[in-house]
Amino acid sequence: MEKSINDIIAQRRTIKPDKYTGATLDDQVIRELLDAANWAPTHGYTEPWRFVVFTEDGKESLIDLLYKLDVEDHGENDVRYSKLRARIERSSHVIAIGMKRGVNPKIPAIEEAQAVAAAVQNMWILASAKGLGAYWSTGAIGYDKRLSEALGWDGEEDSAMGFFYVGDYAGEWPEGRRISPYTDKVRWERG
Ligand SMILES: Cc1cc2nc3c(=O)[nH]c(=O)nc-3n(C[C@H](O)[C@H](O)[C@H](O)COP(=O)(O)O)c2cc1C
Repeated sequence: MEKSINDIIAQRRTIKPDKYTGATLDDQVIRELLDAANWAPTHGYTEPWRFVVFTEDGKESLIDLLYKLDVEDHGENDVRYSKLRARIERSSHVIAIGMKRGVNPKIPAIEEAQAVAAAVQNMWILASAKGLGAYWSTGAIGYDKRLSEALGWDGEEDSAMGFFYVGDYAGEWPEGRRISPYTDKVRWERG
């Protein structure tokens, strides 16, 4: 039986690269995720989401870039390097997420960031619905100006917004967890 949209949303999960099989997914799957991202809503059709997809040898350039920034911040460190390498190697595709600020000054920057988050959520829901491992990480470097500029998002208000890791997953589907139900976060007013 087809899953309901409610179940698909509730079963979207964070699955981190250490759980991926290491297999490479067909690029076509990633194109479908990116197309889903492109259907996110925006105020004023600014469509501010930008992505750089790292796969195959591109993953090596991403490792080089991230380690260069890490060395600037923390110095040479083999453990940090190995963790970084493992996370990227184990992923099939790593998608750098960016926000390119539109030119319409009437659209507040926060709305551009909200639109990017909606785009990522679209990819994430679809990735989970396909049974893939997927994970949005912002970490320490996610919004770093050096990262944004290296990826080509170099306008004053442009920003990198972390990475979306995607990989093949063969384990049990993880249980979700929420600290409190939606009812704790909602107040209804009826006059
Ligand atoms: C904007 C954003 C940034 C995130 N960055 C990180 C991160 O840097 N490290 C991390 O462990 N999880 C990160 N996460 C994943 C959350 O920790 C995860 O979504 C949360 O644990 C809930 O699990 P679920 O996605 O399976 O429902 C991020 C999630 C979002 C929405």
